Amino acid sequence: MKKDWWKKSVVYQIYPKSFKDSNGDGFGDIVGIIEKLDYLKKLGVDILWITPMYVSPQNDNGYDIANYYEIDPKFGTMENFETLLKKAHEKGIKIIMDMVVNHTSTEHEWFKKALENKNSKYHNYYIWKENKGKIPNNWASKFGGSAWEYIEKLDEYYLHLFDINQADLNWENNELREEIYKMMRFWLDKGIDGFRLDVVNLLSKDSSFKDDTYEKVNDDGRKYYTDGPKIHEYLQEMNREVFSKYEDIITVGEMSSTNIENSIKYTNEERKELNMVFNFHHLKVDYLNGDKWSLMEYNFKELRDILFSWQEGMQAGQGWSALFWSNHDQPRNISRFGNTKEYFNESGKTLGTAIHLMRGTPYIYQGEEIGMENPDFDSIEMYRDIESLNNYKILLEKGLTEKQVLEILKNKSRDNARTPIQWNGEKNAGFSNKEPWIPVGKNYKNINIENALREKASIFYHYKKLIKLRKEYDVISHGSFKKIYENQEGIFAYERIYSSEELLVVCNFSIEEKEIVIEDKFLKDGKVLISTYGDIFIEKKLKLKPFESFAYLIK
Ligand code: NOJ
Repeated sequence: MKKDWWKKSVVYQIYPKSFKDSNGDGFGDIVGIIEKLDYLKKLGVDILWITPMYVSPQNDNGYDIANYYEIDPKFGTMENFETLLKKAHEKGIKIIMDMVVNHTSTEHEWFKKALENKNSKYHNYYIWKENKGKIPNNWASKFGGSAWEYIEKLDEYYLHLFDINQADLNWENNELREEIYKMMRFWLDKGIDGFRLDVVNLLSKDSSFKDDTYEKVNDDGRKYYTDGPKIHEYLQEMNREVFSKYEDIITVGEMSSTNIENSIKYTNEERKELNMVFNFHHLKVDYLNGDKWSLMEYNFKELRDILFSWQEGMQAGQGWSALFWSNHDQPRNISRFGNTKEYFNESGKTLGTAIHLMRGTPYIYQGEEIGMENPDFDSIEMYRDIESLNNYKILLEKGLTEKQVLEILKNKSRDNARTPIQWNGEKNAGFSNKEPWIPVGKNYKNINIENALREKASIFYHYKKLIKLRKEYDVISHGSFKKIYENQEGIFAYERIYSSEELLVVCNFSIEEKEIVIEDKFLKDGKVLISTYGDIFIEKKLKLKPFESFAYLIK
């Protein structure tokens, strides 16, 4: 295989709990994924990223791991997992596992032993501060409240950057790091094809553990552990001890609040850290003054400028990005950036085109390929997500009304992405024959996979085509990036160049008609590779309909 084979690949993210339930308990499971491999093959994706399925109390849906070596019975057995791996491989589909090594569940054996005794070696697997009469510092948990929890028996606090049930691991400890590498090799030896590494840039905490200032919204402690002092050292060690021992694997790091400079370091091949990274700056364009729990129309110009500056920056430093609109932590992209009422199909397709043809490896979140929307939950009882439930309380305490809080959750909750996949218009959207663990989106009779497969002009077939084009044209997988038309409101456009191939990608992100002037070099015989509205004639003064997009190739 070529060493950068993953540049020609498209990754599909599965949130197993909501993908397909095979045994009628209301939770999705591994056998459910096996049942749907043919569907994924039809879409044409190359790699599946499956969110955590290890033994877990599921306080944070598996991101709170209690045993790294076993599959949680809710999802099935190790045998089921091995069958999935085998069947996926037979179909030419790779599987990467989600790996959470910033923290474990407080139900993990290590943490339980750490609690028993300060002298236990496991105590030093976590981050503790003795009680000096007050909380160790003012860092905030990402899920609300303080990042420290007091344990009376030890008269100490442990650090949890996420929920109280997710204790941060002490990466300063060599023995802990060895344990983690051993465990990672266990999964790779099983034949998995790589890892998505959860919040992996938070592993190294600054030893000062200083208070933050709270002057701005992000002054909540994160500067002391984001891209921390030893992070590159740890990732190089992980690469040496684990990744470098396996051929053709893929590694993608989830980078919280990172910057371009560090992301280049994480992914520039010569540094031997990771293959690619996710960053989230473009998904904060609807945060009022940086606050997620607010309501604001997204700012198009900001969105485009952020994405393009990352494209340019990563290209200049020869880094590599994971390209995405959505995942299990984000509201549905079509509800957020598209127009679900008048231009459902068109906006779903245009969003796909805009992301898939940039420089990087595209990720599709389950359901995105049929335009699944936010479910519009109208009562707090419908929510399951720990972050949403915590912030529901916090916002009420701040004085917002129940109605205001529910409106915020409708737009911002992670549960927007976690409703069951709408397979068809039947009971429970064909996801399960029992009531699902979280309610199904109301529009499932209309928006579902069965309908999308029947309808030749659906978003599904547009995504299928985008995936296929990446395989056919090196300019998509390997071309350079250049932004264009950046002064035109509502236009998201760029050029890609690779040897003699030049690709022009233009997307209208608005509901207004737009006119652009096509550069002369493109006014020669070329080929429209993909478009929203079918045929498009490339001429000097080109009119674009609402949410119209196209990609045009010349040689
Ligand atoms: C990022 C994951 O995507 C999210 O779902 C999880 O809650 C946090 N990391 C903590 O593990």
